[in-house]
Amino acid sequence: MEEINYFISESLEKRKLNHSLRSLKSENSKIDFCSNDYLGFARSEELRQLFLSELGKYPDFRLGSSGSRLLAGNDSFTERLEEEIADFHQSEAALMYNSGYDANIGLFSCLPQRGDTIISDEYIHASIIDGIRLSHAQRYVFRHNDIENLEQKLRIARGRIFIAVESLYSMDGDEAPLQQIADLAQKYKAALIVDEAHATGVFGENGRGLIEESGLSDKIFARVITFGKALGTHGAVVLGSRQLRSYLINFSRAFIYTTAAPFLSHLAVKAAYTYLKSRDHQSGIHQRIHYFRQLIKPGIRLLPGRSAIQIIIIPGNSRATEKAETIQLAGFDVRAILSPSVAQGSERLRICLHNHNSMEEIKSLCELLNRIL
Ligand SMILES: Cc1ncc(COP(=O)(O)O)c(C=O)c1O
Repeated sequence: MEEINYFISESLEKRKLNHSLRSLKSENSKIDFCSNDYLGFARSEELRQLFLSELGKYPDFRLGSSGSRLLAGNDSFTERLEEEIADFHQSEAALMYNSGYDANIGLFSCLPQRGDTIISDEYIHASIIDGIRLSHAQRYVFRHNDIENLEQKLRIARGRIFIAVESLYSMDGDEAPLQQIADLAQKYKAALIVDEAHATGVFGENGRGLIEESGLSDKIFARVITFGKALGTHGAVVLGSRQLRSYLINFSRAFIYTTAAPFLSHLAVKAAYTYLKSRDHQSGIHQRIHYFRQLIKPGIRLLPGRSAIQIIIIPGNSRATEKAETIQLAGFDVRAILSPSVAQGSERLRICLHNHNSMEEIKSLCELLNRIL
């Protein structure tokens, strides 16, 4: 016990020393430039009313799902919702997971086998890395968005080959060159798997995502769509063929060995999709992104990108933290992303824009950034 406690306190001490100790913060009254609620759905009164009026139709709903989907936890409502989501994203089938983290773990841990190869972008999300670690496949990492480097890895890959990318990277706010990656996947007969967590809702017709926007729906083996970001709710689906869905139901441990999400959660997802389809939610967010980028003065290290995630590089954990604190004191909820979450020297402010940010708020934030950076 003593040794374990010593290890714990030493690990925390190290984090404190390099200014990277994480701690939980409760809600605050600052202006939101931090959440993933890009379209404002999580706080939308209209969506809440839509959800409540739908809920009124199900007076006998069960609070909990009471089991795994394979046992008592399945119902026709969830299956219809999966079909509806698959249709919306122009996919043959969809399978629900309790979170995006679970979806990636569940997909990557069971699909590639010993002797197979998974090639992933170096900036891929932790949930994909963890899923790959659970598989027995060989893993190669290619330099971020570097097509030549990806091809080098493809040349040496053995067995069935999988490529894992995000359509929009959450720590840099930049996009994968999807068309080129899809071409390479075709050339090397690799299965391309794309995580659309941060593109869903923001890009494509009615927020169908970057794959739809690029016209590549037919070229992708599987997609992960999460509901906890622009859709303002919680959970995720893996999109792919009916056969893939059936394979996951049989072999994906993160799907099989867990209690299914409750009806309330699925109803919220259904309401969010209804709301997403009901009108154009995308123009507003893109106007704000454009406005923000116009106002930031030259000289500030603003990374390129047309997404709701805007990145300003401020090297050094202590400097990035200090700037974030100054911005927070002025009433804006902007967070610093520190190493080891990002590479040393590329510490940053991560500014998320939303439909609920007024133009005035964006202007005030930019004026402050221009003054202090
Ligand atoms: C790219 C990406 N994939 C998956 C996830 C996990 O999704 P969830 O928050 O639903 O577990 C995240 C969340 O941060 C993410 O950024």
